[in-house]
Amino acid sequence: MKPLKIAVVRGGRSAERDISLKSGAQVARALRERGHTVQEMDVSPALLSDLISGGFDIVFLALHGRYGEDGTIQGMLELFDIPYTGCGVLASAICIDKAMTKRILASHDLPVSPGTVITQRSYAENPEAVSKEILAQVALPVIVKPNREGSTVGITLVEDEAQLPTALQEAFAHDEIVLVERYIRGIELTVPVLGNDQPEALPIIEIIPKNRYYDFESKYAPGGSEHIIPARIPEADARIIQEMAVKAYQVLRCQVYSRVDFIYDPLTHSPYILENNTLPGMTETSLLPDAARYMGIEFGELLERIISLSLEHR
Ligand SMILES: Nc1ncnc2c1ncn2[C@@H]1O[C@H](COP(=O)(O)OP(=O)(O)O)[C@@H](O)[C@H]1O
Ligand SMILES: [Mg+2]
Repeated sequence: MKPLKIAVVRGGRSAERDISLKSGAQVARALRERGHTVQEMDVSPALLSDLISGGFDIVFLALHGRYGEDGTIQGMLELFDIPYTGCGVLASAICIDKAMTKRILASHDLPVSPGTVITQRSYAENPEAVSKEILAQVALPVIVKPNREGSTVGITLVEDEAQLPTALQEAFAHDEIVLVERYIRGIELTVPVLGNDQPEALPIIEIIPKNRYYDFESKYAPGGSEHIIPARIPEADARIIQEMAVKAYQVLRCQVYSRVDFIYDPLTHSPYILENNTLPGMTETSLLPDAARYMGIEFGELLERIISLSLEHR
């Protein structure tokens, strides 16, 4: 690839700011190593004028979570014809909303984690009745999570009815819409998908939390989880899951790259889609770069592929 002038936008104001700063630093370093001119920028009121006056060939988005992964910055860049990496406005806006994502996937017969959606207003009006309704719809244990956060922020596993109010309050602290899902005991899988018109799944990654029991924090602590590539599941199931990931990517109108999170129940051979990440973690040891490396695509080369795919469809 010929040397480009690239702005790496990272940081922002989501709960995932710290992870984004790490992604941004490593993306910037790897792109510089490949001969590109790179400037790192945070999201500030000066961002747009800096991007316009900087004359960049492309903006590499290393943001995660709201105000970055949700279509807002993509919309701003589209307005001013500034090329950027990754999914467009629509896919970004849909996928930041887990409930909306699941509705679209389910309408295309893709398996999603079963559950229900609660608004803060309805819960505040009548907490007891709403709690009762939740428990009638979803059997314990359940996972309670905010609709639009990432990195397991605000998520609680509820095994006992008495824990439900605290779990809901914790999730409502992050979003006025909350998902209550059946807790699926199974293997955590995630599937990166890359491409525009003919997207392809990378190998499935199996994530083993350090703590043998579910400990969400452990996933993000240094050395907190182990990745196994390819996932140790039957080959026939792996193929089906990769096909599902590609179909999910397409019906959600994704472009360039994303990463589809699954839980897989090995007893029944059933996969469930949890969500789709349109700007997944991009440090060298993040999940998607790990899967690419397994395919022989080094980090810097992966970033250039993302840039080429992004320039191709804009
Ligand atoms: N229905 C569920 N059953 C079991 N575990 C779940 C369920 N929903 C979420 N989790 C756990 O919480 C983690 C984060 O959930 P996810 O929906 O992927 O949101 P995010 O990654 O955006 O925080 C998952 O990787 C998984 O460990
Ligand atoms: Mg996830």
